[in-house]
Amino acid sequence: MSKPVCLADFETHFLKSLDRNARDYFSSGANQEQTLRDNVEAFSRYRLRPRMLRDVSNVNMKTTIMGNEIDFPIGIAPTAMQRMAHPEGEVATARAASSMMTCMTLSSWATSCIEEVAQASGSGLRWFQLYIYRDKAVTMDLIRRAEHAGYKALMVTVDTPILGRRLADSRNKFNLPGHLKLANFSTQSVQSSVDTQQQSESGLYKYTQALINNKLTWDTITWVKSFTKLPVIVKGILTGEDAKLAVQHGVDGILVSNHGARQLDGVFATIDALGEVVEAVEGRVEVYLDGGVRQGTDVLKALALGAKAVFIGRPVLWGLAYQGQTGVEEVLKIIKEEFKLAMALSGCAKITDIQRSLLTYEKRYSSKL
Ligand SMILES: Cc1cc2nc3c(=O)[nH]c(=O)nc-3n(C[C@H](O)[C@H](O)[C@H](O)COP(=O)(O)O)c2cc1C
Repeated sequence: MSKPVCLADFETHFLKSLDRNARDYFSSGANQEQTLRDNVEAFSRYRLRPRMLRDVSNVNMKTTIMGNEIDFPIGIAPTAMQRMAHPEGEVATARAASSMMTCMTLSSWATSCIEEVAQASGSGLRWFQLYIYRDKAVTMDLIRRAEHAGYKALMVTVDTPILGRRLADSRNKFNLPGHLKLANFSTQSVQSSVDTQQQSESGLYKYTQALINNKLTWDTITWVKSFTKLPVIVKGILTGEDAKLAVQHGVDGILVSNHGARQLDGVFATIDALGEVVEAVEGRVEVYLDGGVRQGTDVLKALALGAKAVFIGRPVLWGLAYQGQTGVEEVLKIIKEEFKLAMALSGCAKITDIQRSLLTYEKRYSSKL
């Protein structure tokens, strides 16, 4: 295969290189995958209105998230079980994020533990994604370990009280391969997917049913805030109503996300949800976006709509499958350079030059812009 020149090239390689169990788990969205397609396609409904003659000889992409500087506004979203993509999994991802001076978010369901990822990341910026377990002691342990290991924020996923239905995983009876484990847990019952012998469904679906707290309410966010001093970001908000509630409950940030279209099929693309969330929070907390970000112009569009940064999920897994740490670095380098070019060609020399007036909406859709 010739050297990848865009993120889609990594996907092509990835689709050929992994076994069906892993490939389908990483790729699939919920049900008919309507939202999965729309997450990507929706970006093309926003068109750019570039400005000229604005000296773009020095394009500066640096920004901050939760007060920490990153070299460019593209972080790594939490994705579970990365050792299915590459033997070094999350450790390779952490090294790549650190060397590229951006943020990595570690999943609760990682196949490398909180402490070893912290060590690999060194002085790099790392956040921890939290699933809330029925057993409060399990959740509390994750939070304290993330704090001790130098993670700088907690990203609480709020869109997964029950796992969405991913048809390929049901067909494959998806399970974590026997040589891997959910490394953040010490007891066997929380470590591995349940009932591997008898299962007639995705193992992860059953795991979530058994262990994840499906009674979460906004009180849970209040509790997390009271239990930790770390900034708390809620991941999975899609409406202005919930964005306002999030602010009222004292969150520090909102990640507009539909979980890579893996939960409720038919929800709107995240780029379409972003505008109303940004409007609702009125600048009181930082707003980020993930879902379908595949090229530099997607990043530019999300920032023009008010996101402070974007996060990428699957492209990191494609990079991992391609060449571990180097592959993830390549993915980040390519989208970073694309974003730089998009900034330059639209007349933006720095992040604050990226304004809403940079966008128009494709005419056949009704527009609030
Ligand atoms: C294979 C896979 C595993 C994921 N695992 C988690 C997870 O453990 N926790 C979580 O909050 N989100 C998880 N997500 C959702 C991502 O954090 C993110 O929202 C999504 O991947 C962004 O969309 P993108 O893949 O189109 O970039 C996962 C997504 C994928 C594709």
